[in-house]
Amino acid sequence: MKYRVTLIQGDGIGPEVTRATCRVLAAAGAPIEWEDAPGGAAAVAQYGSPMPQETLDSIQRNRLGLKGPLETPKGRGFRSANVTLRQELNLFCGYRPVRSLPGVHTPYQGVDLVVLRENTEDLYAGIEHEIGRGTIMSLKVSTAAAGERIARWAFEHMRNRGRRHITCCHKAQVVPLADGAFVDAFYEIGAGYPFIGKADLPVDNLAFQLAQDPNQFDTLLLQNLYGDILSDLAAGLVGGLGVAPGANIGDRIAVFEAVHGTAPDIAGQGKANPLSVLLSALLMLEYVGEAKIVQRVERAIFDVLEQGRYRTGDLGGTATTDQFTDAIIDKL
Ligand code: NAI
Repeated sequence: MKYRVTLIQGDGIGPEVTRATCRVLAAAGAPIEWEDAPGGAAAVAQYGSPMPQETLDSIQRNRLGLKGPLETPKGRGFRSANVTLRQELNLFCGYRPVRSLPGVHTPYQGVDLVVLRENTEDLYAGIEHEIGRGTIMSLKVSTAAAGERIARWAFEHMRNRGRRHITCCHKAQVVPLADGAFVDAFYEIGAGYPFIGKADLPVDNLAFQLAQDPNQFDTLLLQNLYGDILSDLAAGLVGGLGVAPGANIGDRIAVFEAVHGTAPDIAGQGKANPLSVLLSALLMLEYVGEAKIVQRVERAIFDVLEQGRYRTGDLGGTATTDQFTDAIIDKL
């Protein structure tokens, strides 16, 4: 049986890193049939939208998607393609595991952190008004239902993975109603999981503590905006945006994605690091239960990183995307 997966190559370095990922998965014998779908700036000219309905339909049909980074044209009245995708398909959980990788040297060792982000509400609900000349109001939306839903997902995930402690991060001292409701939902749902340790922490304190010692945390739960910012910080702890995978998960659909953007400064130069998309694709294979293929590909990636001969520029090397990809395929 083959998994049919919607593939959005994306903009900028997107086509380079998704092509590399497809090559590695093919070499590993992953049973995947790709269905190409448009998205981002590349889709605007043809479909009039950076997230065309055709693409949403394709993901809804296949229930699985892999995407490269998308550019939303600025100042042309488009809603962010990524936000549209997450909201339209109700992909309420932003899942970003952050791990130290062998051979990737950073000031921190042994980081193994999961950042979970509520993906559908908060300031990203996209409700903004100009209430008077020069006065803008942007609404932060927080419902108990969404707080409970992501908290339940978090605790279930931790139980299945044997993770032991979760910290809910907020700014409830300044935004007592919206953030307070999120923290309340966390403790309410968490009461059903007495064997998992729980704490809450102001998000600014979290930023400071992550920089000091990320190993004191196991799993983090955040609302949309804080999660967006802090998950990039977390990626920086283990080598940067080029090596951190991500997923947007709903009840029946999941879309796996690079956490980085389109990297316009290096697009088309063949030097992007494909690991963020490749590791995201491995999250997808893990999600569908293909653990053996995941282990094989991970071993090949780790061997290449450890040997250090082929590394892309963001990891201090000089290898091109293709050379790095070929080295992984050779290991396989
Ligand atoms: P960016 O992530 O594209 O780039 C930040 C820095 O990281 C740049 O120096 C870039 O060269 C480097 N970088 C990123 N990915 C890399 C990789 N795989 N290998 C090597 N170096 C890498 O962030 P930026 O510049 O803020 O955003 C550029 C565009 O991407 C914007 O249009 C933004 O809206 C979009 N974007 C899309 C995202 C998505 O589709 N999920 C996420 C973030 C930004």
